[in-house]
Amino acid sequence: MVKTIAWKDNQIVMIDQRKLPLQETYVVCKDYRSVIRAIKHLVIRGAPAIGVAAAMGVALGALKIRTKDRDRFEARLDAICREMAAARPTAVNLSWAVKRMKRVAAQAGRQQVRELQSRLVAEAKRILVEDIAINRAIGRHGQRLLKKGTRVLTHCNAGALATGGYGTALGVVRAAMEAGKRIEVLADETRPFLQGARLTAWELMGAGIPVTVIADSAAGYLMQQGKIDAVVVGADRIAANGDVANKIGTYMVAVLAKTHKIPFYVAAPLSTIDASVRTGKEIPIENRDNREVTHFKGKRTVPDGVGARNPAFDITPHRYVSAIITEKGVIKPPFRANLVKVLTAARTR
Ligand code: MRU
Repeated sequence: MVKTIAWKDNQIVMIDQRKLPLQETYVVCKDYRSVIRAIKHLVIRGAPAIGVAAAMGVALGALKIRTKDRDRFEARLDAICREMAAARPTAVNLSWAVKRMKRVAAQAGRQQVRELQSRLVAEAKRILVEDIAINRAIGRHGQRLLKKGTRVLTHCNAGALATGGYGTALGVVRAAMEAGKRIEVLADETRPFLQGARLTAWELMGAGIPVTVIADSAAGYLMQQGKIDAVVVGADRIAANGDVANKIGTYMVAVLAKTHKIPFYVAAPLSTIDASVRTGKEIPIENRDNREVTHFKGKRTVPDGVGARNPAFDITPHRYVSAIITEKGVIKPPFRANLVKVLTAARTR
């Protein structure tokens, strides 16, 4: 399976997702600012993957702090964490990972700076290992929802590339295949960054899972034709009431799925649930550079002088969501009550 991100000799190596599938190249980050740039420019993307990158970025930043004074070290670490958490606004996994790194420092007592630095590196590596295990658990639970021969529509890329490995939505597909059920995936191309056409297609092809790419606008027609049995997507943030922020276009797919009585599943780790936001309306939506819409491969495709809008995510209201697949099991409506139950049980375990 492809390695999305790795910690190697006190550097961070990431596969460059801007270049796939035409080139398989890697970006090496030697300081935390280059990690922030990589997250902003989508070298690495996908909620859990940017959480891992942020944790590793904080660890890298911590290693480069040149002081033996604990208070000064912590003040500098705090500033790095603030900068890192601001890299992208929608995926809560980013700030979740940064908070987890800060907790390591807060709980470290009066340890020497060097000891604390190695603890931070260990924690970042642990977040990566845990993420892969979580995705496998999501897969195990989610695959039960898919019968042999299911034709799954997915939007964006919620696969190994979007996580530490294995994937959330695509983890469900992988697990179903591993359980001996042949699954066919239809991948929305996912304009404007083409995560579906470039990344989901590349990753599934590599895994030997049948995949066909469709234009985003073809999803409704194919549902009407009875060619789609289930939708499985990932999430960037889930509100306390079950509203889901995910890649722009997800909402359209969810509304269409409901119209055609097709189940719409969201696969995500518990770290994607943000109980501090009551509904999707409170989730910040990232607006990206309009050139992602007006240009293709550096060439303008929209008449000069015409503007564009480029919201990168949308909110799918919980009434369109059939179930949320987590590492702790499949959560069904009513989401407000059931999400609290699962989160509380996970905390007390
Ligand atoms: O802008 P991106 O590519 O980071 O958006 C990614 C998505 O919307 C994914 O569906 C989501 O992060 C879940 S990834 C397991």
